Amino acid sequence: MKILITGAGGQIGHDLIGALVAAGHDLTSTDLAPRPPSHAHAGGTWHRLDVTDAVAVRDLFYEVQPELVFHLAAILSARGEQDPKLAYDVNQTGTWNVLEACRKGKVARLVFTSSIAVFGPTPSGPLPDPTPDDVPLHPTTMYGVTKVSGELLCSYYRQRHGVDCRGVRFPGLISAAMPGGGSSDYALFMYVDAVRKGGYEAFARADTRIPLMYMPDAVRALLELAFAARGRLSRAIYNIAAFSPRADQIASSVQRVVPDAKFSYSPDPARQAILDSWPKSLDDSAARRDWAWQPKYDLDGMTDDLIPRIKRMLELGAILSSH
Ligand SMILES: NC(=O)c1ccc[n+]([C@@H]2O[C@H](COP(=O)([O-])OP(=O)(O)OC[C@H]3O[C@@H](n4cnc5c(N)ncnc54)[C@H](O)[C@@H]3O)[C@@H](O)[C@H]2O)c1
Repeated sequence: MKILITGAGGQIGHDLIGALVAAGHDLTSTDLAPRPPSHAHAGGTWHRLDVTDAVAVRDLFYEVQPELVFHLAAILSARGEQDPKLAYDVNQTGTWNVLEACRKGKVARLVFTSSIAVFGPTPSGPLPDPTPDDVPLHPTTMYGVTKVSGELLCSYYRQRHGVDCRGVRFPGLISAAMPGGGSSDYALFMYVDAVRKGGYEAFARADTRIPLMYMPDAVRALLELAFAARGRLSRAIYNIAAFSPRADQIASSVQRVVPDAKFSYSPDPARQAILDSWPKSLDDSAARRDWAWQPKYDLDGMTDDLIPRIKRMLELGAILSSH
């Protein structure tokens, strides 16, 4: 199938490209940035594409004529709070441009990547735990605001224009690639810095608990949702969940494999406030029912798979030696 990815140069793009090329798809990867060295062997063609440039997006979609688009390009939560205008331009205007290009270019299907950042404390109190799909959405970040809007646009284009837009709300994602400025990055650094520095001072409290997921499950979720028959989907956007450990439980899981690793906790007020506004865990029963979503990795399963990968990446110099 002819498939195009926006924002392919990031953490998810790295693994999604590999999975799509391995499955034999005709892939066009696009990003604002040139193909990163970590993606050098990923396969497919690479185009520079700025999703805030409506004409460029339209022209490339006309040229490539993809049957399926994965829209990953975004500015993530922590970086978005530093530069809300950029987050608005890329996440809001960029998503509009991609949806319009799908409508005009008659792209049959679009997969949107939303986030747990759409949630925030509701006026009537904290979020239910686990948090279901349908609660009032009160995001506390510009990133979350633009993701709520993207979800609504996705549903609108699905109903109004026949662009079969569907998407997932990802938890914080963990893989052996450097993350892109999200508030859940402490979780990955607990692994990376345990291996390369013997420990990590987390920017979150020890009792911080948010939903997390290992990247192989996240990529599989994208593929399973992308190829699910339309008739099976009762909604456009789905919660998906894997596990919800406290930060100190991640530390214990890492110490099973790296016994000498030392962890401490020095909460950064801005990022801690974002983490505290998110759900502690997600109810993903609709995804399980409609398209048989099921995670394969729990926390210790992820730890056992991830640490050897991080060691290999560090040996190859594919993870930067400082951050
Ligand atoms: N990683 C996570 O934990 C997580 C969690 C929830 C949702 N998501 C969503 O998944 C998607 C992919 O996330 P990721 O982790 O790969 O992010 P990332 O930051 O690693 O990658 C995003 C990519 O978008 C690109 N980009 C930025 N501005 C652009 C522009 N104007 N035009 C084109 N490309 C541009 C960047 O160069 C980068 O390669 C995003 O939509 C994100 O919101 C990610």
